[in-house]
Amino acid sequence: MKKIMVVAGARPNFMKIAAVMRELAKHPQHFEQILVHTGQHYDVEMSDSFFSDLGLREPDIHLGAGSGTHGEQTGKIMIRFEKVCMKQKPDLVMVVGDVNSTVACTLVSAKLFIPSAHVEAGLRSYDRTMPEEINRVLTDQICDYLFTTCEDANQNLIKEGIAKERIFFVGNTMIDTLLRHIEIAKKSKILDGLGLRDNSKVKKYAAVTLHRPSNVDEREILKGILDALNKIAEKLPVILPAHPRTTKMIKRFKLNKVVDYQESISSYNFNKSNKKALLLPPLSYLDFLSLMSKAALVLTDSGGIQEETTILGIPCLTIRRNTERPITIKEGTNTLVGNDPDRILSTALKVLKDGAAKKKRPKYWDGRAAQRIVKILLPSLNAP
Ligand code: UD1
Repeated sequence: MKKIMVVAGARPNFMKIAAVMRELAKHPQHFEQILVHTGQHYDVEMSDSFFSDLGLREPDIHLGAGSGTHGEQTGKIMIRFEKVCMKQKPDLVMVVGDVNSTVACTLVSAKLFIPSAHVEAGLRSYDRTMPEEINRVLTDQICDYLFTTCEDANQNLIKEGIAKERIFFVGNTMIDTLLRHIEIAKKSKILDGLGLRDNSKVKKYAAVTLHRPSNVDEREILKGILDALNKIAEKLPVILPAHPRTTKMIKRFKLNKVVDYQESISSYNFNKSNKKALLLPPLSYLDFLSLMSKAALVLTDSGGIQEETTILGIPCLTIRRNTERPITIKEGTNTLVGNDPDRILSTALKVLKDGAAKKKRPKYWDGRAAQRIVKILLPSLNAP
């Protein structure tokens, strides 16, 4: 029996661990799982609602790290995770994605000589001003098993001198979870709640997410993006379920009046006089999946949403200059637009007119990535 310690800390981690934990649970005679929540994300909407939507069990251990500067947050997670590892003595630490929790826990396990696995290894934006890029590069250098989502990730790792034996191309666990939940998400009441359905017909609308420091931490940039969204809102409803960081910055910069700001989702109804983007609190996984899957257009600066829209066949405009997921441009429905308001607006109007070209599904984004991971770990960890 091998003890696997699975680490999750922030919102985009939960869908990835859900797929792997479900698959590991099919082998109770080989694997004992311990789920550690670092507490990087702690709001109900950023964490708890994902546990219930995804059927994830309660974490066995909460590190309660919370927010802080990068050094503070990473350091706090490391100090607390080291104690847990020394006590629990896991056979493998499994991390996912590229958040501060990912690099913090990998560093601790490497120093304690505990083998580690990185799910979603090898993605590179080649932009080191992004905190996530630093997390990715460092995590991959010291992890033992690197599970990748695409061929370009394999190449990135090889270019960094990583031995081929450590790289395993398995596919995309976030897509495993998407495909598993897409039917269930149809039961969500979010479209009716927002008045986005006329009788049974869904209205044309755009869904937006925004939270990158490079887009929300400077007033002029954030205002420019919100202005572009408002121009799009003159044509069709624009729904922005906002990360707490974005809402905090909108309030700090006194931009609340620029958008239509609603603190609660329940009582809202779109009508013809609505001409501003609608800012909402963050949505649960199933509600957001429902909103995204029926949208005419998605605008985002998230990583995972570029992948999800590719599978859903929804046009996606990425409000960034670069992406660590170029496969979503090459094979999927993604277009990079940067954060220039005119470019966001003109591309959005063009896409609304033309629609997205139907693209192909990237290799191994088929709902079986977690299965492949477990198939690799089973003999490898249980070898005599
Ligand atoms: C983190 C990840 C980012 C990921 C994003 C998804 C890093 C470096 N960044 O960014 O890659 O795309 O999660 O959501 O790890 N806050 C709350 N409640 C919460 C969590 C955060 O109010 O539950 C606020 C706090 O003011 C905090 C700020 O959001 O200071 C930023 O949170 P943090 O975890 O540092 O990074 P994110 O921007 O969420």
